[in-house]
Amino acid sequence: MEKTLLIIKPDGVKRKLIGEIIQRVEKKGLEIKELQMKRLTLNEVEKHYEMHKEKDFYKDLIEFLMSGPIVLIIVEGENAIEIIRKMAGKTDPKESDFGTIRGDFSINILENIVHTSDSRENAKKEILNFFNI
Ligand code: CMP
Repeated sequence: MEKTLLIIKPDGVKRKLIGEIIQRVEKKGLEIKELQMKRLTLNEVEKHYEMHKEKDFYKDLIEFLMSGPIVLIIVEGENAIEIIRKMAGKTDPKESDFGTIRGDFSINILENIVHTSDSRENAKKEILNFFNI
């Protein structure tokens, strides 16, 4: 069994896609283990996106993630990391396939609806950053 972190970003919440996204995850057969809606602190966002610190979009990314409430979801299941990444689609919505969350609901590389962990190591780190488990 694998755990991964799925974040519904402020654009996903504003556009009322929480139910749609959770339904897709559950219908696929994965389990929602933890779920929390909150506003992230600057500290949490900076830690989460530490690897993008030098990127030119970093400031916009931090501001965007703090622009409204987000939903943090721990998803569990066999191969959950890879499956959730596939369900999210490519980072850039103009490259993500229809049928994926980003391919169906986004046109913007920054405001791309969801974040998903990309490896077991990062899933563990990201989950620990947001949950006391
Ligand atoms: P995410 O999967 O959360 O990982 C890093 C985030 O940075 C990404 O989704 C986008 O929201 C954002 N991002 C990645 N590349 C770019 C880019 N070229 N311009 C603006 N934002 C980006």
